[in-house]
Amino acid sequence: MTTILVTGGAGYIGSHVARQLGERGENLVTLDNLCTGFRGAVLHGAFVQGDTGDAAVVAKTLADHRIDTVMHFAAHIQVPESVANPLKYYRNNTANTRTLLECCVAAGVKHFVFSSTAAVYGMPPGGVADETTPTVPINPYGWSKLMTEQMLRDVAAATPMRYVALRYFNVAGADPGGRIG
Ligand SMILES: NC(=O)c1ccc[n+]([C@@H]2O[C@H](COP(=O)([O-])OP(=O)(O)OC[C@H]3O[C@@H](n4cnc5c(N)ncnc54)[C@H](O)[C@@H]3O)[C@@H](O)[C@H]2O)c1
Repeated sequence: MTTILVTGGAGYIGSHVARQLGERGENLVTLDNLCTGFRGAVLHGAFVQGDTGDAAVVAKTLADHRIDTVMHFAAHIQVPESVANPLKYYRNNTANTRTLLECCVAAGVKHFVFSSTAAVYGMPPGGVADETTPTVPINPYGWSKLMTEQMLRDVAAATPMRYVALRYFNVAGADPGGRIG
């Protein structure tokens, strides 16, 4: 059985995905630096407190747990903050993801599920977007994610790693069991 690495698994969306994976009986490991996440939100699997930009921690986690799939949620997510402090976003969302990807390629990770964002579209014509709509972000948050999509496209062309980028809109909801918000 393979093991899934969930980055940002102590955050809002990642903790719900980790919960659902755990309930399905999947092996999983959460990697989170707890900059906005909560240790108590990780209900299943192993937990590593560490940063996606720390190559040593990422490489050890991938090797120790024989990871073949990565679900990448770790990021900064505040649009106004990204406008005020763009380099914070390019460092965490783009540069740290580059380090994560380098470790994944070196470790032979087969599948990479990237939490992108609808912010890659900017202001789509008519207010409606599909996968073919041009990507023209209007803030550094959206650009920091679109740059990662480009890295993934290039890495997938050059290596066996396969990926999907999920460009979802605002997420809402809570655990019906009331364990995580
Ligand atoms: N919330 C939304 O509506 C929404 C919509 C579209 C896309 N997204 C994307 O989904 C992902 C998760 O968003 P969220 O709302 O759960 O945010 P969140 O802040 O609740 O979760 C992010 C998690 O990542 C961790 N983290 C951040 N940088 C890290 C790093 N360098 N190394 C390790 N851990 C790190 C944080 O501690 C936190 O636990 C993000 O990539 C975000 O861009 C969110």
